[in-house]
Amino acid sequence: MADDHTHIRDFFTARAADWDARFPDDGPAFAAAVSALGLRAGDAVLDAGCGTGRALPALRSAVGPRGTVLGADLTPAMLEAAARAGRDRSGLLVQADAARLPVRTQSLDAVFAAGLIAHLPQPERNLAELARVVRPGGLLALFHPIGRAALAARHRRTLTDDDLRAEPNLVPLLALSGWRLDTYFDEEARFLVLAERMG
Ligand SMILES: C[S@@+](CC[C@H](N)C(=O)[O-])C[C@H]1O[C@@H](n2cnc3c(N)ncnc32)[C@H](O)[C@@H]1O
Repeated sequence: MADDHTHIRDFFTARAADWDARFPDDGPAFAAAVSALGLRAGDAVLDAGCGTGRALPALRSAVGPRGTVLGADLTPAMLEAAARAGRDRSGLLVQADAARLPVRTQSLDAVFAAGLIAHLPQPERNLAELARVVRPGGLLALFHPIGRAALAARHRRTLTDDDLRAEPNLVPLLALSGWRLDTYFDEEARFLVLAERMG
């Protein structure tokens, strides 16, 4: 189906089969980022833009067998790769747009989103949709297994002041979409933002 997201689907469809092989050493960074969310047994968590589901095993470990783990992604090929890797044993995989989640309001304890924010066409509105599905006091993790400067270098682009994920830009953006920044790390080996759903 052709829609606004065709280019995103095309981009990630072409990369789905070898996505995990391209980044074989990211496991510990994902586990540490999930750990920073402080999930408890029985919690409900969404991995928004889950791709091949690299975070799902760690999310399942954190919430235990009674918890709920959802992985949502726009790109069927990424979800198929997730299933081939057995990540559907850790969570329910759903083809969905993070901008219109098939999830009840305030039904989740947390949202984890790795490598997603740069792909959101309307960041304020789309982050507000993530806020909609999380209970007040619940958490959002925006994560990337390398920092902004390293990612820009990998993509051969220059980091500019208008970068969405720069702290001075992200703090007001989060506030406008229902989140209060708790923690901001932009280091060589990780980008991790934790924000709390405002009441
Ligand atoms: C950089 S990849 C990251 C995948 C995975 N989170 C990881 O870190 O390995 C971005 C993913 O976000 C998905 N995506 C982009 N825009 C989306 C949207 N609006 N809703 C849901 N998924 C989206 C893409 O299909 C892709 O799988």
